[in-house]
Amino acid sequence: MKLAVFRQEEFFEDYEFSCETMLALSGAEPLRATELEAIAGPRPRADWEVGYTPSAGYPELRDAIAALNPPAARENVLVCVGAIEALLILSNLLLEPGDELVCLWPAYQPLYELAAGAGASVRFVALDPADGFRVDLGAVEDAVGPRTKAVLLNVPHNPTGQTAGPDDLRELARRLAPLGVTVIVDEVFREMRSGHPPSAYDGLENLVVVGSMSKSYALPGLRVGWYVGPPELVVRGRQFRKYTSLNPGASDQLWALAALERRAEILARTWELAEGGAALAERWLAERPETFALADTPAGGLLFPRLLTGEPTLDFCSRLVHETGVLLAPGSVCYESEGHLRLGVATPHLAAGLDRLGEWLDAGGAERGAAAERDGAGGDVAEARR
Ligand SMILES: Cc1ncc(COP(=O)(O)O)c(C=O)c1O
Repeated sequence: MKLAVFRQEEFFEDYEFSCETMLALSGAEPLRATELEAIAGPRPRADWEVGYTPSAGYPELRDAIAALNPPAARENVLVCVGAIEALLILSNLLLEPGDELVCLWPAYQPLYELAAGAGASVRFVALDPADGFRVDLGAVEDAVGPRTKAVLLNVPHNPTGQTAGPDDLRELARRLAPLGVTVIVDEVFREMRSGHPPSAYDGLENLVVVGSMSKSYALPGLRVGWYVGPPELVVRGRQFRKYTSLNPGASDQLWALAALERRAEILARTWELAEGGAALAERWLAERPETFALADTPAGGLLFPRLLTGEPTLDFCSRLVHETGVLLAPGSVCYESEGHLRLGVATPHLAAGLDRLGEWLDAGGAERGAAAERDGAGGDVAEARR
């Protein structure tokens, strides 16, 4: 399997752990171990064996994940090393060279890169900025052709926060079932806000959902995700992973189970961060209409505003982080969507970061870049980092 470099992660590699104020995370601000212990207790199981676990994951954890996705039962759940491993396994199980995947554009790169790595071609359904990036499932259905074997939809969508309801997703799966097409719904952001819909999973043979502890549960370092689908696909996934991870880490799974047992407390924290953050950032952006434009963003923890100054977003973000320590992610690098910025709002550092960004803009930060761009001197910072 040959894969292109994961561009967003290369950008984050440079800054994520050294910047002062991270405003580009897609999930809720990760919990500290002390916070997790305060919620879930000091140690999940005193006598746990530091051994291998069943390859599909601990049975109790599979049960807890099944309960999030009714009518799923244990045999419908494969616990994975993050949602990213779920995507890797599903791409390899469902796609062969010559097959086609239908996917939204823009997209989190692994959604299509892993399919390409499995030898499939990818047909994109573009979300239209002029239409607020609305997800049009009719257009998705229309894009399905004779070689399409899977449709992979990430809703709520990274990075635009647009979404589609579970009934419509199930209906799409029902319509595509006679064509032998599997609908995979990457729901890792589903529970980021209160009033979220139920999982799209409903036991259909050609509908698979992907979830994670990384975003709404604020525990990305556990590296626990999952997919929920037909038992046969779970068995094949378990067989596949004997060659990769064998099983997700035992301690990670135990912490994930403990966290799911205290799900309500963790989600209450996430909702406060994500909803308070979205309201604050939307107000803040609306007060700067000469610099930013934002489409209505109904779900998730990300905003995807347009930068109106004309400066390449990699240059803007590079100058910003070097001059202020505030990290935003450039649409160009992360999504091949020049002109947009990725802003993560579910963090207690949001207000301080936006204040710092506002001071920088007021001191001419954006104009300096736009002027450099006009004079042909733009790109220096970005070039230096490539
Ligand atoms: C849409 C989407 N799917 C999957 C993942 C991977 O998540 P995990 O940390 O569970 O591997 C991410 C992470 O950003 C994501 O945005």
